Amino acid sequence: MSHLPPCRVKEIRHAVLEWQRRHGRHCLPWQLPATPYRVWVSEVMLQQTRVEAVVPYFDRFIAHFPDARALAAADIDRVLALWAGLGYYSRARNLHAAAQRIAERHGGEPPSDLLELRALPGIGPSTAGAIRSLGHGLPAAILDGNVKRVLARLFAVAGWPGRSATARRLWSLSEALVCPDKPARFNQGLMDLGASICTPKAPTCLKCPIAFSCRAYIAGETEALPEPRPGRRRPLREIGMLIIEGNEGVFLERRPPSGIWGGLWSLPECPLDTDPAEAARRLGIETVELERCEVIRHGFTHFELLIHPIRLRLTGHAPQACDREGTRWHRSNRGIPTGLPAPVTRMLRERSG
Ligand code: ADE
Repeated sequence: MSHLPPCRVKEIRHAVLEWQRRHGRHCLPWQLPATPYRVWVSEVMLQQTRVEAVVPYFDRFIAHFPDARALAAADIDRVLALWAGLGYYSRARNLHAAAQRIAERHGGEPPSDLLELRALPGIGPSTAGAIRSLGHGLPAAILDGNVKRVLARLFAVAGWPGRSATARRLWSLSEALVCPDKPARFNQGLMDLGASICTPKAPTCLKCPIAFSCRAYIAGETEALPEPRPGRRRPLREIGMLIIEGNEGVFLERRPPSGIWGGLWSLPECPLDTDPAEAARRLGIETVELERCEVIRHGFTHFELLIHPIRLRLTGHAPQACDREGTRWHRSNRGIPTGLPAPVTRMLRERSG
């Protein structure tokens, strides 16, 4: 158990409940009505999939299998066909197997007891807590990805939540917060906060009902928590980016429709081992190199990009080649163009001082 002052716990519960009542989600399909069966199906679908993607699958699934007995009696191939597209098909197999156990041993209704829930295939501790609290209205802790982030910030829990010591600490905090009076609303509030306010990047703490008690917010460390998985550095890619300056402004080209920044206007790129003036010549532009600027690091999900900005000066006239479709000169007196990739905007902003 955790050592939280009871008055702090009460304040947090009250603030989350009030916020959920006014700003939380109340019209998700599994809330209308929130029966144990519907909550269970939704929680399993939501284990690895986003809410927006789940909604149409949930509606279709429930239309075909309105209760655990209907699911238990169905052919597994029909269940899998309705799951097709959601991925992680072991979830559907487990759901089907669990439905048969529920039909045989629990009178056709998912149980409310945490140990009985945990004994069913595909139900982990957080899913069990969600079924008990959201479906049965009984007190139970939950700890899905959103709630981990909220609690890691609220109590400034160091360590990657995938580490068992960190996860244990987060669990005990979630248990300490369990709301005895309104467990469903409180747990939904924690999830809603994680989804809308306490987001992984740029959380909107000014709108957060529990910012007054949030250790990370008070310490200015929301971006640093929860800690990322250690030791898994993303691979690095490096490119040169050409800032070609002419009387007409800066030369831009449209990126190919697929791949990173697909279809956006950007600066021309060149591999680091090529001569930038030669790369510009291939675009039909004669230049001289002016300077190499400070390297910019930009993170993507699967790799990190190191951008080496290189300033070049057009010698002679702006060539016709630049009227080609997919290329243009952006006049510097028009400010920084909109809709460029973020690091490119930054480079142009830095260049214009
Ligand atoms: N993710 C898991 N459970 C959820 C719920 N009840 N509402 C929204 N997102 C969720």
